[in-house]
Amino acid sequence: MPSSLKLITLLLCLFLSAVSSLTTSYYEDTCPHLQSIIFPTVQLAIKNEPRMAASLLRLHFHDCFVQGCDASVLLDDTSTFVGEKTAPPNNNSLRGFEIVDKIKQDLEAHCPKIVSCADILAILARDSVVLSGGPGWEVQLGRKDSFSANKTATNSLPNPFRDVEDLLEKFKNMGLNVTDLVALSGAHTIGKARCSLRAGPANQICLASENAYLDTTPVRFDNEYYLNVLAGKGFLQSDKALLSPPARDIVQAYARDELKFFKDFTNAMVKMGGIETLLGAQGEVRQSCRKINEIQDCKLGDASMCGKSLKN
Ligand code: HEM
Ligand SMILES: *[C@@H]1O[C@H](CO)[C@@H](O)[C@H](O)[C@H]1NC(C)=O
Ligand SMILES: *[C@@H]1O[C@H](CO)[C@@H](O)[C@H](O)[C@H]1NC(C)=O
Ligand SMILES: *[C@@H]1O[C@H](CO)[C@@H](O)[C@H](O)[C@H]1NC(C)=O
Repeated sequence: MPSSLKLITLLLCLFLSAVSSLTTSYYEDTCPHLQSIIFPTVQLAIKNEPRMAASLLRLHFHDCFVQGCDASVLLDDTSTFVGEKTAPPNNNSLRGFEIVDKIKQDLEAHCPKIVSCADILAILARDSVVLSGGPGWEVQLGRKDSFSANKTATNSLPNPFRDVEDLLEKFKNMGLNVTDLVALSGAHTIGKARCSLRAGPANQICLASENAYLDTTPVRFDNEYYLNVLAGKGFLQSDKALLSPPARDIVQAYARDELKFFKDFTNAMVKMGGIETLLGAQGEVRQSCRKINEIQDCKLGDASMCGKSLKN
């Protein structure tokens, strides 16, 4: 390659890497209607099963805390890696994969190969909160999807049996602070958990079934979670753990002031959505969220990948 061409290529790469960061307008030109394609499907799914809001919100959290918000959580196992789905925090409890598949199919029909699975998860989380009566926010977009997943990496997720120091350490590893920890734990205002994980003796519901609601108003996104925690009724050990300093004061503030909870929750969701995102050529836009693309598109600066099959 002539040296002038090399220089131009280098400058172009530098320029592109400088402009790639998450923005709310990322798909403005390439898939302008994506939000209105996604929303009705989430709405219907939640109408059919209100718990789905909780399950979709949790998917984004479990994606972001494990090697970043890169949709690695959605990958099925392959011959080259064992994915995250069968790891203990996910096995038998992570749900909503079929809804993600449905939305991905709709988006592939409208704007093929444009919208990443990682961005879909971020939008689904927001829509689920809104449809449960919680606050809305502008979702930052432009994440790319990973080329692999790693079962062991799920040990960066917080453990429900641990105390506040341990939870905080897990959050600090992700660049999140104690305000974020307490605000994001408020996601347990919706959804269910397995009774085997419940702190304390079995309640009536747990005597009769496998799962129970985490909160007393389980399909409404509100600040009831904090009132429950203060009353000693946190479902998981990790919910009860927020009664200890430095989390306690924040729990009390959110129990008193729902709007403050909503404000801090939305701020923390945007922060969580920015954990170790793959940008530009660092990742791809998967055509099926469950597997990496078989044929890699031409990537800038790596023409050798044009039309190459990764299948072996
Ligand atoms: C603070 C650390 C956290 C721990 C230890 C924790 C742990 C858990 C556990 C053990 C379950 C029940 C899973 C099962 O039944 O096996 C659960 C459910 C849930 N978690 Fe968390 N979680 C935490 C933070 C979060 C965050 C940050 C979010 C989202 C922003 C979240 C959203 C949810 C939701 C919505 C459910 C209910 C899911 C459903 O009904 O399908 N959690 N969590
Ligand atoms: C997932 O859970 C099922 C049922 O409890 C169990 O049979 C299976 O071995 C678990 N998978 C892994 C990989 O831990
Ligand atoms: C998988 O994750 C573990 C724990 O984070 C890490 O030590 C290991 O290097 C990762 N493996 C690969 C192949 O990336
Ligand atoms: C946590 O970070 C947010 C900014 O994202 C900030 O507003 C908040 O004060 C921080 N909390 C603490 C305890 O430092």
